[in-house]
Amino acid sequence: MRNTRQFYRERRTALLRTMRDHAGGGLALLPTAPEVVRNRDSTYPYRPDSYFYYLSGFPEPEAVVALVAGPDGDRQVLFCREKNEEREIWDGFRYGPEAAKEIFGFDEALPIGALAEKLPELASDRPALFTPLGLFEPWDRQVTQLLNDVRARVRTGVSAPEEVVDVRAPLDTMRLVKDGHEADLMRRAGAISSGAHARAMAATRPGWFEYQVEAELMHEFLRHGAQAVAYPSIVASGPNACVLHYRDNDREMAAGDLLLIDAGCEYRGYASDITRTFPVDGRFSGPQKDVYELVLAAQLACLDAIRPGVEFHDYHKVAERVLAQGYLDLGLLQGTLDEVMDSGAYKQFYMHRAGHWLGMDVHDAGLYRVQGASQRLVPGMALTVEPGTYIRPADNVPEHFWNIGVRIEDDVLVTATGHENLTAAAPKSVAEVEDACRR
Ligand code: GLY
Ligand code: MN
Ligand code: MN
Repeated sequence: MRNTRQFYRERRTALLRTMRDHAGGGLALLPTAPEVVRNRDSTYPYRPDSYFYYLSGFPEPEAVVALVAGPDGDRQVLFCREKNEEREIWDGFRYGPEAAKEIFGFDEALPIGALAEKLPELASDRPALFTPLGLFEPWDRQVTQLLNDVRARVRTGVSAPEEVVDVRAPLDTMRLVKDGHEADLMRRAGAISSGAHARAMAATRPGWFEYQVEAELMHEFLRHGAQAVAYPSIVASGPNACVLHYRDNDREMAAGDLLLIDAGCEYRGYASDITRTFPVDGRFSGPQKDVYELVLAAQLACLDAIRPGVEFHDYHKVAERVLAQGYLDLGLLQGTLDEVMDSGAYKQFYMHRAGHWLGMDVHDAGLYRVQGASQRLVPGMALTVEPGTYIRPADNVPEHFWNIGVRIEDDVLVTATGHENLTAAAPKSVAEVEDACRR
């Protein structure tokens, strides 16, 4: 069994290999995210930068990973805050370089205060510098300063990196395919969030406000050790279900409403992203059930299409065709399937894509097309499957369908033979959902 530290070390080793392949070696510098002030002396809850955390697992602010692919081999260095008894009394534990080196598997760890002094030496005689460009403005300035500092030393016989590479490109490619440790964390995130959706179904009743359901979700996330929401929870009842990124979560719900919840926790840096839609009073009406069954059929057809070797965009086409045929069958659209596909008429009710990469970021790193061609799925890729239907009041729509909004979203991991549904525990069929609402 590999321990967690080895996974992080292997990711750093893989990046070092890429640096050698790309430029014959070089220096990679990955800063973590700064703390951000919310108001006066309060900061937002701290979250490390995804790229930095992917390579280190190190949770503290004020830290930089430095990877050297040099003529005498590789060196993995962490710069981090020093131990500080006074600050630790006020703000809590700090690893300090000595412990961080051991626990996070670096060859060397140094105080962050030594960074400015050490960098010119680390960057001298390296063919390339690999670092994020345009991610943090103060860092961009520090990189420019560093390059100038090294250039200023040329008369001592050193050379500055000739090439600066945005390290996010190779890291995005790596992050697209999850390793075993990432898969385990995503399974856990999916399981916690699935439980939260079941809890929301059981708790919701007419007369509640949307924020009360949001509180139930949050309760379930935190009590299972999730650190945060992966994105602001969407708790959208009645007409709000037709607002794709609804945020207010403040409407009072009534019997007869549907409630669309798009919510997932972040567990040790990994996102889950689930949508379920259910009746506030526990029973789907006839038209609600018709639309729900259609979206469910589309979602199941999409899931069926996910396996290694297929194009990322294949299941999006599946969603469009199943939904468009359903709109014709329900009398929401007129014409033939080819006509409504060609004209795009189905977009009146379905206007987003069927999913996206999922990982440390809810809309995760990784290209969708490579030189124009759709990315093909390989084992280890993680993605969402989330068709929906949103029927706003309109002259061309029968009134009994007005304000019905349904989305069903699962998270899947591509496996050698197909896929694993990470969020299968969230109730989904009409019977499962109505049953969960009765609990
Ligand atoms: N919750 C954002 C999304 O589903 O993409
Ligand atoms: Mn999503
Ligand atoms: Mn979502």
